[in-house]
Amino acid sequence: MNKGVGEAPGKILLIGEHSVVYGHPAIAIPVDGVRARVEVDFTRDGRIEVDAPDVGQRAATGDRAPARIAPLLNLAHSVRDLFGEPAVGLRVVVRSTIPIGRGMGSGAAVAVALVRAVCAALDRKLADDQIAELAMEAEREFHGTPSGVDVAVTARNQPIHFVRGRTPQPIEVGDEAFHFVIADTGVESPTMKVVEEVRAVRERDQARIDALFWELGSMASIAREIIRAGAPGELGVCMSHAHMILKEVGVSSNDLDTLVATAIAKGALGAKLSGAGRGGVMIALVENAAAQERISAALLSAGAVNTFSTVLKA
Ligand code: PMV
Repeated sequence: MNKGVGEAPGKILLIGEHSVVYGHPAIAIPVDGVRARVEVDFTRDGRIEVDAPDVGQRAATGDRAPARIAPLLNLAHSVRDLFGEPAVGLRVVVRSTIPIGRGMGSGAAVAVALVRAVCAALDRKLADDQIAELAMEAEREFHGTPSGVDVAVTARNQPIHFVRGRTPQPIEVGDEAFHFVIADTGVESPTMKVVEEVRAVRERDQARIDALFWELGSMASIAREIIRAGAPGELGVCMSHAHMILKEVGVSSNDLDTLVATAIAKGALGAKLSGAGRGGVMIALVENAAAQERISAALLSAGAVNTFSTVLKA
């Protein structure tokens, strides 16, 4: 038995948030510049201890764990027990540079990194999709009824076309690179709450919301072809249109709309909220690295608390 280390990247949803919960396709891409990293050591007392110094929370077997780490403590027990090692004591240290509650997949990434780290420590190997499946236990505790898109993209660390309950399909990127700027509103947005609110709106107005979701799902499938063809201009149009639909669903906010409008005014090819909405991040597709810098500066001036850049390429 060794010390185990596991890592997983952040993510953004390009198209299909919310509609993916109702069985429509979504496109998600990993964001390598922000990551979760989990280290696992052995202890002698048979307990599992989870320590998350970035959020100042820690708990061990038998404790009443704080909300942010209870799902991780439970997950560590499940993985250890799955491998038939109930007597092994583990000290699990969770670190992450992914902003929490902003739609960048921090919960999914720490869960996937934790499963990987426990597997590495116990010298077991699992396929990426098995790791994602195990990590869903923690995602359910974090989010209620997650579609599974977050754990799928962070476990595979590649762009995916995702439909709930099916094996995710990797997307090959065409010749042209896609440059993104991600801007954080600084507003934490609990996915579970927004998903529940959307559910309530849909119950009142099902035909209208289902039509909007159908449109988002169709655009996700079109976006897959656009990525394969390497056509950033066309993806930008899809993204801006998706933002308008999500606004109609009711999950945007003034902060998100301001940042989206700023990006477009500064020459972005397209822009939209990403993730659950109401807060969290927006994403803009821009022409090249110079535009990433220029538009990032504009978004910070318009109120973003932080920006990240990422490139999707073959
Ligand atoms: O975790 P977030 O904020 O990226 O939201 C996930 C996207 C939703 O479609 C809103 C929820 C889900 O489970 O897919």
